[in-house]
Amino acid sequence: MKKESVKERIEFLRTLLNDANYNYHVLAQSILTDQEFDKYLRELEVLELENPEYDSPNSPTKKVGGEVIDRFKKVKHKMPMLSLPDVFSLEEIEDFNKRILKENVDPIYVCEYKIDGLSVSLHYEKGQLVYAATRGDGVVGEDITHNVKTIKSVPLVLKKPIDIEVRGEIYMEKKVLEEINKKRKNEKLPLLQNVRNAAAGSIRQLDSKIAAERKLNTWIYHLPNPEDYGLKTHEEALNFMSDLGLKVNTQANRLVHGIHEIEAYIEDITHKRNELPYEIDGVVIKVNALNSQNELGFTSKYPKWAVAYKFPAEEVLTKLLDIEFTVGRTGRITPNAVLEPVIVMGSTVKRATLHNEDYVRMKDLKIGDIVSIRKAGDVIPEVVEAKKNRRVGDEQVFAMIYTCPICESVLEKKKDQVDHYCMNVSCPARKIEGLIHFCSRKAMNIDGLGIEIMEDLFNLGFVKTIIDVYHLNQHKKDLIELEGYGTKSVDNLLLAIEDSKHNSLERLLFGLGISGIGDKTALMLVKKFQTIDNLLNASFEDYKNIKDIGPTLATNLYDYFQNVENIELIESLKELGLNMKYLGESSKENELITGRKFVLTGTLSFIDRDRLSEIIDSYGGFTSSSVSKKTDVVIVGESPGSKYDKAKELNLEIWNEDYIKEILGKLKEI
Ligand code: IVH
Repeated sequence: MKKESVKERIEFLRTLLNDANYNYHVLAQSILTDQEFDKYLRELEVLELENPEYDSPNSPTKKVGGEVIDRFKKVKHKMPMLSLPDVFSLEEIEDFNKRILKENVDPIYVCEYKIDGLSVSLHYEKGQLVYAATRGDGVVGEDITHNVKTIKSVPLVLKKPIDIEVRGEIYMEKKVLEEINKKRKNEKLPLLQNVRNAAAGSIRQLDSKIAAERKLNTWIYHLPNPEDYGLKTHEEALNFMSDLGLKVNTQANRLVHGIHEIEAYIEDITHKRNELPYEIDGVVIKVNALNSQNELGFTSKYPKWAVAYKFPAEEVLTKLLDIEFTVGRTGRITPNAVLEPVIVMGSTVKRATLHNEDYVRMKDLKIGDIVSIRKAGDVIPEVVEAKKNRRVGDEQVFAMIYTCPICESVLEKKKDQVDHYCMNVSCPARKIEGLIHFCSRKAMNIDGLGIEIMEDLFNLGFVKTIIDVYHLNQHKKDLIELEGYGTKSVDNLLLAIEDSKHNSLERLLFGLGISGIGDKTALMLVKKFQTIDNLLNASFEDYKNIKDIGPTLATNLYDYFQNVENIELIESLKELGLNMKYLGESSKENELITGRKFVLTGTLSFIDRDRLSEIIDSYGGFTSSSVSKKTDVVIVGESPGSKYDKAKELNLEIWNEDYIKEILGKLKEI
């Protein structure tokens, strides 16, 4: 064949096969028989092999998989991928509707199925798929393009050559999971727990052949920049994406007017839910008008224009076989229910936390009881109650332990607290838990250092402290020789460790495992303090004056950063090259506000106090309620109290209403 006609033939075959794919996997209709499809696909494969100059990353031949990657690259989302606030009852939906009405927004919504899978962001340039990413932590996700290309319903080429990002859900049909598990059972492999885990596990494969075999699917439901395409409503955005060849759930999505129609939609799907070929775990309700969505805006986590109604959790009965105790990284002892394995909402439950001694006593649980289990928010299994009428008399009364199950030191229970603690800082259980926490996804996110591997490395003596994690490269040879590791996985692990050195400071701060400091608090703190040195140098008052930090957390923080061992740990991590700064969006700065301590007194006519505190906060200033020598500025409004007198007495800088108004005006905050 002449080169010219080869190129034309390739293009013809690509268009034909793309079209056949679209018709089959998006519209559920056939324009080619299976045999015809295979024949054309093979012809295209041969032509591409013989004429590599015409190869294209988005050819339909790429749908069968084959590309293997070394590791997942991180991708920063252009706009954060937010999740939705959950509601669990019709009353809560009514509250949402009331909030919408209060803002004078028309109560016109789109109701959609809440698909049980994992969210994905697809990026097209000039209509060609360029990359696909997972949600990750909402700010940074992972590049999963090689696997997404194998999903039949994801078009590699759109019907229009435009630049666009769309978002949706990757999911696995129920019957696909059944087929896979049937095969795995025959091959004596562990079964995949539920559709969501199966889909997530499939998309996290380095070898795209495996993802291709898993027959994943998509529903697209969100367009992050609808106004760029001249659209006015979410309904229009859905149609627009559907017209581009994306798989939008047009059968399920419904425009509804007011609360009654929302309730009717939920009622309807509650009955049909089990007949669907895929799992849904609720209904998403979104305000339709895009200008109203913009007016309503976002909180730091969620859009204010949508909610996810979750179906009530399923409850099942099983037997409480035992109560076992575990030791957390802070030494906290947790009793755990060991259950006769039971399937709740598609996944097997074998254990559930019982939190503390009081919790077990309050529920009056006895070993041997028949108990009801529920999955709260679909994820964490919870023991609801013991079925006392099913007791036969040989159930055993629960007994709290008084020594650590691992190191046997005597446990302590502080006055007025419910938890027991192992106080031995060298307790191996505490150390391992601390290390696992340090490497976990929301902390330093070191892929490959999960529970089992960390236990191995700890027991082998390779990792006893956080510092040892960063010296693991010295044990490369030993690691490769360990069973189940191999050169490639060790290389990946060492790369992940190296990569973690560039994390923004909030991950390290959370990873250090300071009692009571969760990932959200860590982020809030680093936004304020910016660097580890500022945290190290802060006073107890500095911590305590922060909104949302009570005296206990302030004490924990202050004690942690005063402790010599912790200071040495941080210095060593610095020397190892770990980043010690907040790398997030640059926070606002102003020399009159940033780093200074403010006290507000009296009433300001143009702004309320909370809002003013928020603004000061957003510029890295601190507000406190009492005037002292350490105060930098006292802001004085109408009828100030004794704080004004004290400020004058201490000769502090005083700003009156006009002055603060002028500053805020210049900063465009009012
Ligand atoms: S909209 C800004 N619509 O549920 C709004 N999400 O709890 C973005 N999900 O992270 C999400 N079905 O993974 C939206 N029809 C639907 C959905 C849906 C499933 C997932 C999605 C999201 C999570 C929020």
